[in-house]
Amino acid sequence: MTSRPFDVYQIRRDFPSLDQHIHGQPLVYLDSAATSQKPRQVIESISRYYSGANANVHRGSHSLTSTATNQFEAARDTVAEFLGAPKNSIVWSRGATEALNLIAQSYGRHILKPGDEILVSEMEHHANIVPWQLVAEQTGAKVVKWPVDPISCQLDMAQLDALLNSNTKLVCVCHISNVTGTLNPIREITEKAHNIGAVVVVDGAQAVVHEHVDVTELDADFYVFSGHKVFAPAGIGALYGKPALLDAMPPWHGGGKMVEKVSFGGTLFAQSPAKFEAGTPNVAGAIALAEAITWYKSIDRKAAERHIAHLQKRLVNGIQSLDDLNIVGLQPAASVVAFYVEGVHHSDLATLLDQQGIAVRSGHHCAHPLMDAIGINGCVRASIALYNTEEDIDRCIEAIRKACDLL
Ligand code: ALA
Repeated sequence: MTSRPFDVYQIRRDFPSLDQHIHGQPLVYLDSAATSQKPRQVIESISRYYSGANANVHRGSHSLTSTATNQFEAARDTVAEFLGAPKNSIVWSRGATEALNLIAQSYGRHILKPGDEILVSEMEHHANIVPWQLVAEQTGAKVVKWPVDPISCQLDMAQLDALLNSNTKLVCVCHISNVTGTLNPIREITEKAHNIGAVVVVDGAQAVVHEHVDVTELDADFYVFSGHKVFAPAGIGALYGKPALLDAMPPWHGGGKMVEKVSFGGTLFAQSPAKFEAGTPNVAGAIALAEAITWYKSIDRKAAERHIAHLQKRLVNGIQSLDDLNIVGLQPAASVVAFYVEGVHHSDLATLLDQQGIAVRSGHHCAHPLMDAIGINGCVRASIALYNTEEDIDRCIEAIRKACDLL
């Protein structure tokens, strides 16, 4: 597909939600790392599905169910292609969190033994920590921390060498940190982990909307993401797993569609991915996710990333010109800037920004261990998407300046 030239004002026309006022001011949406806004093409695809193709999938033989099933499976192929993954290596989930829990409970619980180690980076979102703690408790395995440098907010690869050992069965790491935007060298991590026979689980929630992800090139064993961060609705996401791993894993949830034959004597399970998709799935969500990917692929993504990097630099320069503002783990050319003001509570600052029409996230960002490593209890995070403009950034800087004068 040929991509259209990057024009932020044209792109914004696809996003009806950006055209609104908050507290009497035009909205500046700088919270896309929490969830992206949705293009009208995605919104319309949901309405189109429910108006013309709504039926259950993989059940029955009437025409509507065939249409719905075809669209649902075509959406799976779109996701597979988007990730550089083979067909049928994609399992639908409610999002990255559910996908990580699936891996922990199906793969982890099946293979982990007392004394085994699950190496988890300290910069992880709670979604890539808590499922491992739960499965560690169930199996007698141990969660081991891969520390982050508190200043650079980077992971040390030499430390990885020191931590990996014959007990390490899993290495769990994000592709991009949701707090600092740190980009982790996944290919290098998979290589080192595979050398000692460990399996690598990558949380790609923040990366799919910024990086060109190819799970085959990365040699990730599992890679998960949520649709809602990549312009699709909430409640749909995907899990990629290497086919040999998925085939060997037992089901997680039981129910309809994940079986070949059920009797009171026992159940014969379906093949993957159906084995992991008990119950009626989020058909409209899957179709809308494919629409979101198609929309995103129609954009010149390299130009979009250059635009985001330019805006991030502008925001960083603006913030650095203000007194008492500290940027957390600044990463060049990332899509986020996390910061705090000495002596000011992050939520007070975010509230004052909201009153000026600026939407940012404040708090611990579901990353308590990272906050503890840095030595703060929270911060404000401005996250930039391809639909943000220079005016958005300038208004944000001005709003921070005003808020700091008041606090
Ligand atoms: N994981 C999302 C965030 O970082 C919710 O804001």
